[in-house]
Formats: sequence, C-alpha cells, structure tokens
Amino acid sequence: MLQNVSLRFLRHLAKDNLKETALSKLKHWTKQFSSNKVLEPETSAALIVAHALNKKMFVELDSHEKQQPLTHQQIKLIDNLARKRLQKIPIQYIIKEWDFSGLTLKMRPPVFIPRPETEDLVQFVSDEILTNSATSVLHLLEVGCGSGAISLAVIKSEKIKSNKTDINFTCIDCNQSAVNLTKENMMLVDVNQTKMQAIHTDIALLPTNQMFDGIVSNPPYIPSKEMGDLQAEIYQNESHLALHGGYDGLDVVRKILDASKSVLKPGGWIWLEVDDSHPKIIPNILPEQFAFVEMREDIFGNPRFVKIIKKS
Ligand SMILES: C[S@@+](CC[C@H](N)C(=O)[O-])C[C@H]1O[C@@H](n2cnc3c(N)ncnc32)[C@H](O)[C@@H]1O
Repeated sequence: MLQNVSLRFLRHLAKDNLKETALSKLKHWTKQFSSNKVLEPETSAALIVAHALNKKMFVELDSHEKQQPLTHQQIKLIDNLARKRLQKIPIQYIIKEWDFSGLTLKMRPPVFIPRPETEDLVQFVSDEILTNSATSVLHLLEVGCGSGAISLAVIKSEKIKSNKTDINFTCIDCNQSAVNLTKENMMLVDVNQTKMQAIHTDIALLPTNQMFDGIVSNPPYIPSKEMGDLQAEIYQNESHLALHGGYDGLDVVRKILDASKSVLKPGGWIWLEVDDSHPKIIPNILPEQFAFVEMREDIFGNPRFVKIIKKS
C-alpha cells in the first residue's frame, strides 16, 4: 500500500516536473540560443515567450503567469518562433513588430528594421521643424522611408503635436515592399494621407514639380568593402537596398544632394544619418548650392548625423 502511494506520488512529481511554463521555456530557449551563438539569447527568448502569451515584455507576466503550465498551443507557438530565431532570423521579423520612438510598428522582411540611434534623428528633425516661424504648412521629404518609422515618429511626436505645426511628409522608397509596409504602418498608428504620402520611386527619378522645406534621410550608407563584415542575421535578412551605399557608402547621399538642387527650397535643410566615416567627407562633396552646417554624435560619441542647408 505504502509502496503504491509513494509510486503514485513519485509519478505525480515527475509529471509536474515535465510541465512546461513560461519560465521553463525562457530558460530552455535562452540556453539553446546561447549554445547556438544567437545574438542576445535571453532577450530573444523573453520576447518570444512574452509574444506567445500576448505580452510585449516577459516582465509584464505576473508570477502566476510565469509558473502556470502552458497550453499545448502556447508551447507549439513558442517552439515554432524559437526555431526561427535559431536560424538567425531577426527577432523583429519573428514577432512581426518593433517599438520605435514610442510607436509600435509592423515589421516584415526584407524591410529595414529601425535602429535606436535613428530616434536621435527624429529629435533633430522635430526640433528643426519647431524653429520654423512660417505659418503655412511645411512640406517635408523623407528619402528611403523603410517601415515609415522616421516620418511617423516625427508626425506623432508630442513636440510637433503640441506645437500644432502643420507638416506634410512625402515619403519615398525605391523598394515596393517598404512603401507597402509604410502604408500599413500609417493605418496602424492612424496617420492619414493628408499628412503623409508614401510613394514608390528612386530619389533620382523624383518629379521636380514639388518643392520641399526640409529633407530627412537615413540612407543605405555601408561602404562596399564593409558589407562582408555585417552580422549574418542582418546580411541574410534585411534588404541590401537598405544597407549598401556603394563604393564609399555615399551613393544615395550624392543622389539626394543632386535631387535637392531642384526639389529643396532655398534656405531649406537636409538632415542625414550616415556612417561615422562620412561627416568629414561630406563637406568636400557638396555641390556649390549647399553649405555644411553641423555634425552631431550618437550616444556613443560617434559622428553620425549631419545638417546641410541650401544657400538662399
Ligand atoms: C537604412 S534604410 C532606412 C529606413 C527607415 N528610414 C529607417 O530609418 O528605419 C534605407 C532605405 O532607403 C531605401 N533606398 C535605398 N536607395 C534608395 C534610392 N535611391 N531612392 C529611394 N530609396 C532608397 C531602401 O530601400 C531603404 O528602405
């Protein structure tokens, strides 16, 4: 009898140990990711488990949710997503969304995933807009909108909304998938076509019938010889149209400057995010109509942003 009870008890204990919970999945996949050299193993596992449980962050789960047994469906979902991460697919493409400047935007390969340093560019452009004293609407151009992150973040920024500055963004991208995703993100964050238009075109082919007060771009800027140094998960998943900037990384910057001769108003500004080798080169490649105003550093002290104006 005693033997029966203890056997039943032992079986119960064993079954209990096999129960998979959010916490056990987090530990399991963190270990798997680490041993398979997946970048940011713990963050990746935490985001996947949280996503499968309809949360943004693992820390949003309370202690009960972390330890209660997962359903068969939840386990299957976590394991499917985690297997994609094992194949070095970026976490943003796996969970299909990412936060940028306070907005949650849809992400889809091969459209460029917005990086945190670009949030600085959003601030510089928002501040630039606020210095404008004109009462009429400001017409702005974003070259290479990707997911729409920069323009949407500027339009939605508290600074711009509370100042009631009237702005209108024309966003262009030479990649149709990027234009489609920008349009979906416009709907997602409730920005309509009167504020922002997404157009499929190369900057070199932009019609010259509209003039802009300002231009912003985070163009592809990686020099050819550095493309091979990219992490595999970037190189294999994100569009090279978004990464490769030609021999010295400045091909698209040159195209923007060339187009700006006709589409930027005199006195208009250009804000660019560039490779840290570029701010000292850019003053030497400016056509005579333009003047270099300043360079700014990112939070790590790298020279990454430049402001140019078109002479009046
Ligand atoms: C580095 S991504 C930036 C995306 C987005 N602005 C961001 O910061 O997340 C550069 C984008 O420029 C686009 N692009 C590259 N060359 C272009 C060109 N000649 N004309 C228009 N868009 C271009 C790419 O398709 C890509 O979406």
